[in-house]
Amino acid sequence: MKKVGIEAISLYTPRYYLDLKTLAAARGTDAEKYYNGLGQERMAVAPPDEDIVTMSANAVKVALEGIDYREIDTLMLATESGIDQSKAAAIYVHSLVGLPSTCKAFELKQACCSSTAGILSALALVQMNPRKKVVLVASDIARYGLGTPGEPTAGAGAVALVISADPKLVAFDPENGSYTADVMDFWRPNYMDQAMVDGKYSIRVYLKALSESWNEYVKASGREFNDHYRYCYHMPFTRMAEKGHLHLAKYSAPEGISKDMLKDQIYSAQRYNRLTGNLYTGSLYEALTSLLESRDKLDDRRVGMFSYGSGCMGIFFSGVVQKGYRNYLKTDAHRQMLEARIDLPYGDYEDMYKAVLPQDGSDAQTMHYETGLYRLAGISGHKRIYETVGSIADRHNEKTSVDQQQIPREKASQQGRR
Ligand code: COA
Repeated sequence: MKKVGIEAISLYTPRYYLDLKTLAAARGTDAEKYYNGLGQERMAVAPPDEDIVTMSANAVKVALEGIDYREIDTLMLATESGIDQSKAAAIYVHSLVGLPSTCKAFELKQACCSSTAGILSALALVQMNPRKKVVLVASDIARYGLGTPGEPTAGAGAVALVISADPKLVAFDPENGSYTADVMDFWRPNYMDQAMVDGKYSIRVYLKALSESWNEYVKASGREFNDHYRYCYHMPFTRMAEKGHLHLAKYSAPEGISKDMLKDQIYSAQRYNRLTGNLYTGSLYEALTSLLESRDKLDDRRVGMFSYGSGCMGIFFSGVVQKGYRNYLKTDAHRQMLEARIDLPYGDYEDMYKAVLPQDGSDAQTMHYETGLYRLAGISGHKRIYETVGSIADRHNEKTSVDQQQIPREKASQQGRR
């Protein structure tokens, strides 16, 4: 069987974030609950002129740097923040990025797990035709009600992966284990723009899905706990990875694991997620990016990965990091993006949160905020209008410091993201 896996990976997150200390002060909560109890420091906040399309387009454009667009057979977009019941958000991304008309484009859904379902399909597609490549982009705005327990676990961003028979970063193992069950731990009815979540129940279902899919993975692969050097987990909040890893170790690592082993095995994968909050479909792949871009020496090392999507489906799978992988990462660009973000005062966060597109079908224009290369300009005649506002070359030349960046003061009355 041919080696297939990840040739390139790129993360995009909006230019604004809320420090969870700021949120804790506004909610009268001890900040340690968020920083240590949940393991989150900052949450990315999408301005009104960014949505899953603009975030995806940014991630895809960078992931495809140096790759011939004519080799891309399919663009898959995984999301649970859909903007249309019929037209795939992938079509807008296809157009913004400039992919050829021969490239297919469609959208995938199963909560946070559809990205992994997409990757498994992409692997099969590439196995059948190793000259073709697939781009899988996972993009979401995780949004909970103001003042609800879910609020500190919000976030926003997209991760794009190029899947090919030239896996410069990670080659996937052919085996996986999965678990599917009809449960109501987290869902979003069509008439709501915030998720319904039974958080505590969701944690229990996550752990059950983890052990069940792990058992199937072990049966299929014959591998054991210690056959994996590092682990990456889907992280609605980073403490969830600790809960998951301890749960897995309890019955699958005969001699148990120490605190240091726990830290070694999962910490490097948590760093970026702590700084952006939940990316839903992108969460696991942000964790993988964080791991690959850490100081860990990973050449030829096997990584275990657990993908969870509420509702629910869990998939356990693994991959081997390729020799020389560091040469193909976008580490500097990612670090620069995370460092150059704007720290929002609480009032601006709430303004951005409340700025929603009109729900009655009327036209609207969005205010200009700091964005990536693309923005949502508004709605006209029931159609979403996107525009390109820069190029990768502009971004490379950009020397804007955090101090120089300003949040637009003026706010339009009708502006939003959905
Ligand atoms: N200092 C340090 N830790 C503190 C603390 C403090 N002052 N106060 C509380 N904590 C700890 C708690 O002990 C708990 O840790 P534990 O789970 O190890 O016991 C943690 O912080 C969270 O506190 P808790 O009271 O359980 O939080 P909550 O009731 O406000 O809700 C979630 C937490 C995770 C359930 C909630 O944020 C949520 O529902 N998020 C959405 C989750 C999601 O998206 N699920 C679906 C996809 S998987």
